[in-house]
Amino acid sequence: MNNEQVTMNKVQCVILAAGQGTRMKSARPKVLHEIAGQPMVRYAIEVANSIGSLRPIVVIGHGADDVKQTIGESVDYALQSPQLGTGHAVLCARDQIDPASELVVVLYGDTPLITADTLRRLIAAHVQSAAAVSLITFQPADPALYGRIIRDDQQRIVDSVEYTEATPEQRALREVNSGIFCYKTDWLLSHLDRLTPRPGHGELYLTDLVSLAAREGAVVAHADCDENEVLGINDRAQLAQAERLMRERINTRHMLNGVTLIDPATTYIAARVVIGADTVVYPNTHLHGKTAIGRECAIGPNTIIHDSTIGNACEIVASMVEGAVLEDHVDMGPFSHMRKGAYLSEGVHIGNFAEVKDSRLGPGTKQGHFSYLGNANIGADVNIGAGTITCNYDGVKKHKTEIGEGTFIGSDTMLVAPVKIGAHAKTGAGSVVTRDVADGELVYGVPARPKHNA
Ligand code: UD1
Ligand code: CA
Repeated sequence: MNNEQVTMNKVQCVILAAGQGTRMKSARPKVLHEIAGQPMVRYAIEVANSIGSLRPIVVIGHGADDVKQTIGESVDYALQSPQLGTGHAVLCARDQIDPASELVVVLYGDTPLITADTLRRLIAAHVQSAAAVSLITFQPADPALYGRIIRDDQQRIVDSVEYTEATPEQRALREVNSGIFCYKTDWLLSHLDRLTPRPGHGELYLTDLVSLAAREGAVVAHADCDENEVLGINDRAQLAQAERLMRERINTRHMLNGVTLIDPATTYIAARVVIGADTVVYPNTHLHGKTAIGRECAIGPNTIIHDSTIGNACEIVASMVEGAVLEDHVDMGPFSHMRKGAYLSEGVHIGNFAEVKDSRLGPGTKQGHFSYLGNANIGADVNIGAGTITCNYDGVKKHKTEIGEGTFIGSDTMLVAPVKIGAHAKTGAGSVVTRDVADGELVYGVPARPKHNA
C-alpha cells in the first residue's frame, strides 16, 4: 500500500441529509429527488467512496425511513431529530465517527456535483498546511445567501459568516462558503461541544468552527472550485440546473470513452449506464436505469431504453426497450416495444410495431411486422409473419406458446395458448391454432387443422 492509500483510508465522510428541503414543495425528502436517474444523495455517497472514505455516515432526519429504505445498508446512518442546524447534524454523527480516522470530510446530500478531484485538492491543501479546518470556497456570479468568507489582513481565513448575520460590508464580499469541510478528526471531536446555539431558533452552525480554529491560532486552509460543482439544490429550478450539468458531465464521459453522441443536448443517459466504444447514439435517445450497451451499436434516434442489456453491433431505431436482453447483431424498429423478460438471441430481426414480453426468440428469428409475442419460447430461424399474435391470456391466467426451430408462422396467425408448434412446421395465413402442431406439419384454417398432402 502506498502513502496516498494510507492517507485515503483514514478519511471519514459525514453526509448531511437531514434537512427538510421546504422549497422543493414535495412530499418526498429532498435528497431522494433524482438527478440523471438516481437520488441526489447517492452522488455524495459515491464521491465519498471514491476518495476512499471509511463507510460514510449519512445524517438523516426529515423522511429518515424513506432515505434509509432507498439508500440501503451500504452506509451508516445517524439520526438527527429535531434538525437544529449543520453543527448539530455533525454532533449527531459524532459517536459514529471513527476516532482512528485522520480526517473527517463533511459533504451535503443536496450538493451532488462535487467531484473527487476537488475533494482531493481540499485534502491536499489541508494536509500540506497542517490545518485544523479546511473548506471549499468559491466566487459565484451572485453570492446570494451563501455564507461569506472573512479574511484577515494577511489573507488568512478567520470566519465564515451567515448572510443573515453579515454586515453590509461582509455581504459585499464575493468569496463564499460551499459548506464542504475537512477537519482533523481529533480536533473536530474535541471542538464540536464548543458550538453554542443561536439565540431564538437554537441552531448550531458548523461554520462557527472556522472562527473557533482561527481564534486558537490553528490553520484554516481552503481549496477553491467552480461554482457549478457546489451548486446546492433547494428548489426544482436548481434541480433542473443540476440535471443539465450532470447530463453534460455524463455525456462528456461517454464521448471521451469512445462513444459518438450525435447531439449531446438531446441525449439523456442515466448515471449508471454503460456504453461500449464505437457505439453511435442518435438524437433524442433516453438510456435509463441499469442499462448496458455493447460496442458498435447504433441507438436511436428517438429510442428509450430502461434496465436492459444490449449486445454488440445492435441497431435500435425509434423503439422502446424495457427490462430486455438483446444478444449481438439484433436490429429493431422503427416503432417496436420490447418489454420485461424479452430475450432476443443473436441476429434476431425485429421490424416495426412488434411487441415482445416474457419471451425468448432464438438466433436469427424474424418478427418483421405488427405482431405480439408474450410468454413464448421460440427456436432459431423462425419467421413470425405479419399480424401474428400469441393469445396468451384467457382473462385469468397467462399461458405458454412454444415454437420449434425453422418454423414458418403465416401472416395473421392466432396462437391460442397453451400451444406447441413443432420444428420446421408451417401455419397458413389467418390460421387460428388451438391445438399442438407436430414437427414438419402444415396447418391452416379456423380452427387450424393439418394439411397432410402439403
Ligand atoms: C450552509 C452554510 C452556509 C453555506 C451554505 C452552502 C451553515 C450554518 N451555513 O447554509 O455557510 O454557504 O450551506 O450551501 O452551515 N442539514 C442537516 N441538518 C440540519 C440542517 C441542515 O442535515 O439541521 C443539511 C441539509 O439537509 C443540507 C445541508 O445540511 O444538505 C445544508 O443545510 P442548509 O440548511 O441548506 O444550509 P444553508 O442555510 O444553505
Ligand atoms: Ca442550502
